[in-house]
Amino acid sequence: MAWESPVFSENQNDVEACLARQAAYKAGITTRATPASTSPTLFSTVATRGRQAMKGKGRNNGFEEIIGARGALRNVLALVRTVASTDSTALIEGETGTGKDLIARAIHENSPRRNRAFVKLNCAAIPLGLLESELFGYERGAFTGAVTRKIGRFEVADQGTLFLDEVGDIPPELQPKLLRVIQEGEFERLGSTQTQRANVRLIAATNKDLATLVAQNQFRSDLYYRLNVFPILVPPLRHRSGDIPLLVTHFVGIYSERMNKQIERIPDEVMEALISHSWPGNVRELQNFIERSVILTNGNTLCPPPEALRQDSELDSLKPVTLEEVERHHICKTLEQAHWVISGPTGAARRLGMKRSTLYWRMHKLGISRAKKTASFNAGHTSLAGAV
Ligand SMILES: Nc1ncnc2c1ncn2[C@@H]1O[C@H](COP(=O)(O)OP(=O)(O)O)[C@@H](O)[C@H]1O
Ligand SMILES: [Mg+2]
Repeated sequence: MAWESPVFSENQNDVEACLARQAAYKAGITTRATPASTSPTLFSTVATRGRQAMKGKGRNNGFEEIIGARGALRNVLALVRTVASTDSTALIEGETGTGKDLIARAIHENSPRRNRAFVKLNCAAIPLGLLESELFGYERGAFTGAVTRKIGRFEVADQGTLFLDEVGDIPPELQPKLLRVIQEGEFERLGSTQTQRANVRLIAATNKDLATLVAQNQFRSDLYYRLNVFPILVPPLRHRSGDIPLLVTHFVGIYSERMNKQIERIPDEVMEALISHSWPGNVRELQNFIERSVILTNGNTLCPPPEALRQDSELDSLKPVTLEEVERHHICKTLEQAHWVISGPTGAARRLGMKRSTLYWRMHKLGISRAKKTASFNAGHTSLAGAV
């Protein structure tokens, strides 16, 4: 598979070495960081391999724009591949900035509809009263100001893909109409009694927990089940911090080219600080941070605003964390200490004071497995510093 290419597994080793230094970094960025201590080796190898991988060379077919080599994102891309060839509705869930738009586009680009329209509508960005006419269109004279007929997004996307972003923001009164068009492929333009048909592949995305909205009667359960045919959960960046070095070199490459700069080095402590940070705004926040850093850089060594990183990591330790995050972190830490032995007198179950079956159940519920241990453990490290 493309993401298991030698390019990425080689990078993985560099990344792992970088992650190993992360704990040490936490103890003293301010004292250890010197402008001279840079990491040309790490930067040049990752950057070169990253560039090679990004040039395509047929290795990461179809996902050239999506950077990420580690488990969590690889699983997401496997789901993308699986669902892309079908006509089924996909529901992409994840925090803001995690890459939901990219994933939606990747599904379309890898689908049989790739040569047809990809139409996007952000349901949260359209005023309530206009959403219906945006979706279904209107006839001339349908309401004051409707001077010409307007085709809605469902019609524009006919034979192609319609991406409904922030679908959790669709108001309750519009939800039955959306359900109807998804189920029957039928709708009417506003001001018309003539039924229109559209053959549309739907992709929906949300940063809200739709199941909770259903429980609170804010989202229709029948519409939820109709959307939730093939759910794809995009993990937050803090749960895949191993991807950060690749993303950093990717964005440094993009912005230095755009700003005509020759940035060849990233100081070790900068990379480690970037890996340690919890990035509540996810990849979008990281991308903006790198853009700002490239603007501030004059020589060939990336020079981010040092205060920003230090303050961010101080603030991280004050951020509230959920009970689930604390639990995941504690279980991962105990499993590490027990060398992933579950049962027996020195096993993790005994250390945690629970039955072996209960620990297996909790691990399953929290998505903890030995294969994922590095990503999960590092994620816990990042967001829980100072909390446990
Ligand atoms: N894995 C990734 N590789 C490269 N760029 C990414 C990745 N994930 C997100 N981005 C970039 O981060 C920004 C935010 O992504 P976006 O898809 O708009 O997030 P969301 O829709 O979840 O809010 C975009 O500029 C996008 O190109
Ligand atoms: Mg988005």
